[in-house]
Amino acid sequence: MAASNPTSPEGAAVLHAAIVMDGNGRWAKQRGLPRSLGHRAGVEALKRTVSAAAQTNIRWLTVFGFSTENWSRPAAEVAELMALPKRYFESDIERLEREGVRVRVVGRREGLSPELVRIIENAQARTAHNDRFFLNIAFNYGGRADIVDAARRFAAEVAAGRARPDDLTEATFDSLLATADSPPLDLIIRPSGEQRLSNFLLWEAAYAEFVFQDVLWPDYGADHLKAALAAFAARDRRYGAVIPDDVLAAG
Ligand code: FPP
Repeated sequence: MAASNPTSPEGAAVLHAAIVMDGNGRWAKQRGLPRSLGHRAGVEALKRTVSAAAQTNIRWLTVFGFSTENWSRPAAEVAELMALPKRYFESDIERLEREGVRVRVVGRREGLSPELVRIIENAQARTAHNDRFFLNIAFNYGGRADIVDAARRFAAEVAAGRARPDDLTEATFDSLLATADSPPLDLIIRPSGEQRLSNFLLWEAAYAEFVFQDVLWPDYGADHLKAALAAFAARDRRYGAVIPDDVLAAG
């Protein structure tokens, strides 16, 4: 991640938000539908939310599409989840391209089919020139796996004599992570009522604010995003320091 958040051309703070898109299965169950239809409805919610986010001060959005732990789901559900990027890009890549969204799929490529890797690379290439909004889709991603992969990359540099152990700083470690190209994370949103991180953006979450919302992901939309941003705006972010008024009050 870059060292500090940029501002918009108008000078307003722009945000990097992340969403754990949770609750597809429960949404389907409530309706007596197979889980696969919950995931498909989740794709529609992603489309709505990317459009809505682009109308706010969010400029980077990182969403959790498939975790390294999701491989342990039944094979049929894993197959359905593996088909989601194709479903999403086939139906939305033209709009993403047209509306200036740059797509990146972050996570391990091992385990993905060659067809899926081709679909991902095609979506990334088609939107590579865009810079109005940045969408990172974490797919076959795990926070711990990402930290291990970054540590391995640095260890390889040391083993090759290109770096010394002392060269490793928080900033250089940031630059080895899957989110290296995005600014620091401001906000993590988790719908569905669950209140945990589930191995998402572990390193990046250090000073992010959390907003948990009682809505299942397939029902998520612009109003929920607005409510999350309102909650975020009311937070007092101190990054471990104290604000000057409190120093005065402490006398
Ligand atoms: C967690 O809900 C959700 C997932 C494992 C899949 C998330 C995928 C989408 C929202 C679709 C968009 C994705 C891409 C890659 C374009 P769950 O199934 O665990 O729900 P539950 O907790 O209610 O069972």
